[in-house]
Amino acid sequence: MALKNIVIMPGDGIGKKVLPEAIRVLDAVGFKPNYIHADIGWEYWCTEGDPLPQRTLDLLEEHRIGLFGAITSKPKDQAAKELKLELQNKGYVYYSPIVGLRQHFNLDLCIRPCRSFKGNPLNFVRRAGNDVIEPDIDVVIFRQNTEGLYSGVEWTNPPDNVRSALETHKKMAAFKNTSSEDLAISCRIFSRKACHRIVFEAFKFAQKFGYKNVTICEKPNVIRETSGMLRNEALKISHDFPEIQLWHTNIDAQMMWLNKNPEDYGVIVSGNMFGDIVSDAFAGLVGGLGFANSANIGETCAVFEPTHGSAPKYENLDPQIVNPIAMILSACLMLEYLDETEKAKRIRHAIGAVIAEQNVRTYDMLRLVGGPDVISKGAATTQEMTDVIITKL
Ligand code: NAI
Ligand code: MG
Repeated sequence: MALKNIVIMPGDGIGKKVLPEAIRVLDAVGFKPNYIHADIGWEYWCTEGDPLPQRTLDLLEEHRIGLFGAITSKPKDQAAKELKLELQNKGYVYYSPIVGLRQHFNLDLCIRPCRSFKGNPLNFVRRAGNDVIEPDIDVVIFRQNTEGLYSGVEWTNPPDNVRSALETHKKMAAFKNTSSEDLAISCRIFSRKACHRIVFEAFKFAQKFGYKNVTICEKPNVIRETSGMLRNEALKISHDFPEIQLWHTNIDAQMMWLNKNPEDYGVIVSGNMFGDIVSDAFAGLVGGLGFANSANIGETCAVFEPTHGSAPKYENLDPQIVNPIAMILSACLMLEYLDETEKAKRIRHAIGAVIAEQNVRTYDMLRLVGGPDVISKGAATTQEMTDVIITKL
């Protein structure tokens, strides 16, 4: 078999620290592809005026699989100030390179598994009389990654032709006395193709991994057109998967129910913003940012990344303190994408065993405030956590 090529993009801050840890684990499980480093992030913004250089896009175009750490983003003005002098005032505008990647390669499926590991002190628990119940949570969120409210079609002070087009809708009458300068508009656009794809992939995933239900989490009673389109596609597609139940929830009610009965849900499908919200909420029930992992999958390219950012305040700590598990679990998603399901399973098993033993815990698992002193308070270092996972393998 030809050697797989994987494009690795450590990025900024702790992205540079956790990505090598994931590679150590992949190596230990016997997955030894050819890794190709690619530049992304703040350094390239400052020195080249582009946080996602063309050469990185070319590498991904060629190899189609990326493992990504995290990047640092800063507000527009600050970004402009940090640009090297020769590039200042030349029209360079900062944009988030991870959003750029999702758009460039149309990585329209965002998959975020939220699974509790037994013994994780950060797990959601519930009281029932004098008992404390710790349900097994195993929810996988399918978030539409490219459209909806994050598609970027928006204006403050919309041009006249936009305004006139909108005024063909009778509900715009409510804004007739508001001047355009005082109007901000962000469009929520769904396409049938994208709705179909995310629901279909969610059902296929549920079937492959044995989930019993797929929940469409939207708000079709109010946002009738966009949420309604996702709902309708789901109703059609569900006929082909009779063994899987189709449920519908509203995002607001879902945010309440997930604290009541999170163990009832299997696969959840949402548009871009609701998917962002509901996946963070579920991630909070199973350990938070140190565990939250994700895949961005398009028709021809896929990028795997932890949900967390670059946590710059921890970048220069020696030893490192952040939890590498979110990055390692993201690498497991990559293995599954490559049909290396058994290797992914072994890694998750090893992580599960380490957590169940309760001996080695990074600072977040001990609920400590991050800083150099956490090691003396009993927290494991980033490397120690990886080492013990590898030992279990
Ligand atoms: P962040 O995710 O970097 O950090 C928030 C807090 O979460 C940290 O201070 C830390 O306490 C905790 N945390 C994060 N990862 C952890 C880990 N692996 N183990 C233990 N604790 C962990 O988010 P923040 O501070 O809002 O943003 C920092 C930078 O990251 C910003 O420039 C932001 O734009 C960027 N960012 C990048 C993302 C990406 O690359 N996909 C996503 C989110 C933020
Ligand atoms: Mg988010």
